[in-house]
Amino acid sequence: MSMNLVTTLYLIASICFIQALKGLSHPTTSRRGNLFGMLGMALAILTTVGLIYKLGAELATAGIGYVIVGLLVGGTAGSIMAKRVEMTKMPELVAFMHSMIGLAAVFIAIAAVVEPQSLGIVKQLGDSIPAGNRMELFLGAAIGAITFSGSVIAFGKLSGKYKFRLFQGAPVQFSGQHKLNLVLGLATLGLGITFMLTGNLGAFALMLALAFVMGVLIIIPIGGADMPVVVSMLNSYSGWAAAGIGFSLNNSMLIIAGSLVGSSGAILSYIMCKAMNRSFFNVLLGGFGGATETAGPAGAKEARPVKSGSSDDAAFLLTNADTVIIVPGYGLAVARAQHSLMELAEKLTHRGVTVKFAIHPVAGRMPGHMNVLLAEAEVPYEQVFEMEDINSEFGQTDVVLVLGANDVVNPAAKNDPKSPIAGMPILEAYKAKTVIVNKRSMASGYAGLDNELFYLDKTMMVFGDAKKVIEDMVKAVE
Ligand code: TAP
Repeated sequence: MSMNLVTTLYLIASICFIQALKGLSHPTTSRRGNLFGMLGMALAILTTVGLIYKLGAELATAGIGYVIVGLLVGGTAGSIMAKRVEMTKMPELVAFMHSMIGLAAVFIAIAAVVEPQSLGIVKQLGDSIPAGNRMELFLGAAIGAITFSGSVIAFGKLSGKYKFRLFQGAPVQFSGQHKLNLVLGLATLGLGITFMLTGNLGAFALMLALAFVMGVLIIIPIGGADMPVVVSMLNSYSGWAAAGIGFSLNNSMLIIAGSLVGSSGAILSYIMCKAMNRSFFNVLLGGFGGATETAGPAGAKEARPVKSGSSDDAAFLLTNADTVIIVPGYGLAVARAQHSLMELAEKLTHRGVTVKFAIHPVAGRMPGHMNVLLAEAEVPYEQVFEMEDINSEFGQTDVVLVLGANDVVNPAAKNDPKSPIAGMPILEAYKAKTVIVNKRSMASGYAGLDNELFYLDKTMMVFGDAKKVIEDMVKAVE
């Protein structure tokens, strides 16, 4: 395999990745996008295997067998995990994947520092690595180490399964934390520069150890509600780590794919921060979203009266409306009620009701969560509206049906400047003539806040699991 062919194949794979990102930007083209991504990755892997085979023949060093075993083990584990994972558990799986990318970058950097001749960085054993390559290795290894340990903490916090204090959703804060992070950051940078200028291996090892510690310290003060932003930020880091290593290995594929992941992760973090009206800096300093207070069933906290009704009552209101907007939230995903919801929407449309779906950019637990959910149930795209396109319609809508959503329709974001979600753009469901809210209890949502919407005179609560409630509504509409 000639180097020209390798470069051409890598270029084609990179174009596939760009097409994948383009396709994934809209539900209608997302399948095509996924296909391009798979094609690009298959081509990149095959080209790399071919390249190793060629180097192996030339240098008699590369162990193609290890690569194939690695591919089989990694590929099998990956497909089993992807098949089993529930949509609501996706963010933690992504965090786990990022930790693996970070660790891979660290291992490659260590291999390149210890045996640069095997990776073609120098001609023969004993030659010193050029300073430029040392800088790339330092950057790739440091970002990789931060990504690894940070993603492990993010994984623990998101899964909520572990008792270990650092894995709890609540932020872990102590005095002098930011100063400590700053000192560690400067020390890591200083050691990296020392390695770059002198090639001192001790400085490289110490720099790596500090970067691992920093990854933990950066993520522990961040509360559960901000975790998805953190995951997308770590996604960006993992891309930059790969790009850094790509420069050292002179691998154009790694540089392009790493930069694509790095920049798209950074853009996504920005979009999510904007949707929650949070500054990126604020998220990184942490503290928000940790104390998920639960009010308990029927307002155990402060038994304020709410109007509640049955699925039949809700169906009556829905069938007598001209216009209905449905607001799906995290609870709908947990209940896996999207198919029943589609049935309900179809039945209402059949009876002449205009039904629209309103999607908040951070509804659920990851970006695009609700779009994927509705697409899975084959809700027509023309019925699905983004927040900025539908907010002006709530005032003229007869009934808003809120299903397992809470924070994204909490008027406190607009009316209470002291609220932790103050300024976060919301779906203005409270403006509709009648509001129906389905959830299991009066417990709070992800941000741990009470919601005034539930106590309005025009609001009717329908308590119960979303799937059961929607199925009952379908029967009642029939
Ligand atoms: P949440 O505010 O978390 O509210 C979901 C509600 O669903 C809960 O109040 C819960 O109440 C109810 N629920 C749970 N299981 C249910 C079931 N089986 N049937 C019916 N209801 C059920 O969700 P949201 O409104 O979608 O808001 C998302 C939150 O995530 C926001 O705080 C947002 O800032 C945060 N967040 C999202 C992202 C992204 S990118 N998506 C990023 C960062 C943060 P009960 O327990 O009473 O049933």
